[in-house]
Amino acid sequence: MQTEHKTTDLYSKRWQALSSALKANGLEALVLNPGPSLVYLSGLHFHLSERPVTFIFVPDEEPSLVLPELEHIKTLDLPFPLHSFLYGEDPASWHLAFQRAAQAAKLDGKRVGVEPRRLRLLEYRLLLDAAPEAEFISAEDAVAALRMRKDSGEISAMRKAAEIAQKALNETLPMIKIGMTEREIAAELTLRLLRNGSDSEAPFAPIVSGGPNSANPHATPTDRPLQNGDLLVVDWGASYQGYFSDITRTFAIGEAQSEEQKIHQIVQQANSAARAAVRSGITASEVDQAAREVIEAAGYGKYFTHRTGHGLGMEGHEEPYIRNGNAFILEPGMTFTIEPGIYLPGRNGVRIEDDVVVTEQDGESLTNLPRELIQLP
Ligand code: CO
Ligand code: CO
Repeated sequence: MQTEHKTTDLYSKRWQALSSALKANGLEALVLNPGPSLVYLSGLHFHLSERPVTFIFVPDEEPSLVLPELEHIKTLDLPFPLHSFLYGEDPASWHLAFQRAAQAAKLDGKRVGVEPRRLRLLEYRLLLDAAPEAEFISAEDAVAALRMRKDSGEISAMRKAAEIAQKALNETLPMIKIGMTEREIAAELTLRLLRNGSDSEAPFAPIVSGGPNSANPHATPTDRPLQNGDLLVVDWGASYQGYFSDITRTFAIGEAQSEEQKIHQIVQQANSAARAAVRSGITASEVDQAAREVIEAAGYGKYFTHRTGHGLGMEGHEEPYIRNGNAFILEPGMTFTIEPGIYLPGRNGVRIEDDVVVTEQDGESLTNLPRELIQLP
């Protein structure tokens, strides 16, 4: 993972926003495990491992970090003060480190926010033991609200992640021919993602699916060789400074049949209608609706089996979710995918996915590879 050169200012800004979000949610502290929210709020990268690492944030206080001695080096030149509570290789020493950290943060009796999908029973027990009177409550909404509104530095990282991914695909396309397998294409693409500067921790492994496999939105690459008349769905992304891109394009291998050409055209129109709909102040559902209407009007509604998109940033899927019925209001700085699809079971599928950012006026696509049906080879 790349080292980030973030400034004291950046974190103090994010901590202020976090403090208000916590207060607004009736919370007095936040504890975080290794993961995107910890990176966002501290720049600290740790793998979630068998050794607990826990960050304790209390508004207007110096944050505390419980961590193994061997990781101490990562905290030595941080742009902010931090109380470190180290433990050794004997798991019996974890308790004491958590107790001292909880005391320093005066955690006992507080309403403490946690990320329910990240905090493990391991850390939860240690925290509870160290602060038996604390109440642990989900801070998911408060943290998501912060991370959803990307600043210009985050948007540039996402733009770069899109560039890397697009360049990698452009270098891979000339190699694709009838008889090549999905797995071979995925391997070539992955190599080029890394060579073009993607972080090694990619958002997800590329989906490369041809013919009947392309009708499965979450296919994994197989040893099936490409055949004349297949549609080929490639869904891939890069990571840059921890920020992701997530793109899909669909290609024709040799001559596409007429219905395949038609569904491609419809999906392309749906993608473009949804991108055109994006602007600050409308709901996530309205963006979904813009894509869905095009596909339904063409009579393929039941073959569009998923939501139109998902938030994208430090996680491959995050808020806001672009789905029917989601009344969440879009704001400038929010980034998400637009990825309508039509899947004809047993035959072929089409998906066209772009990454967009909500701007002051409307929306901007960070991805710009051609969207029309391109014939390969
Ligand atoms: Co995708
Ligand atoms: Co996606």
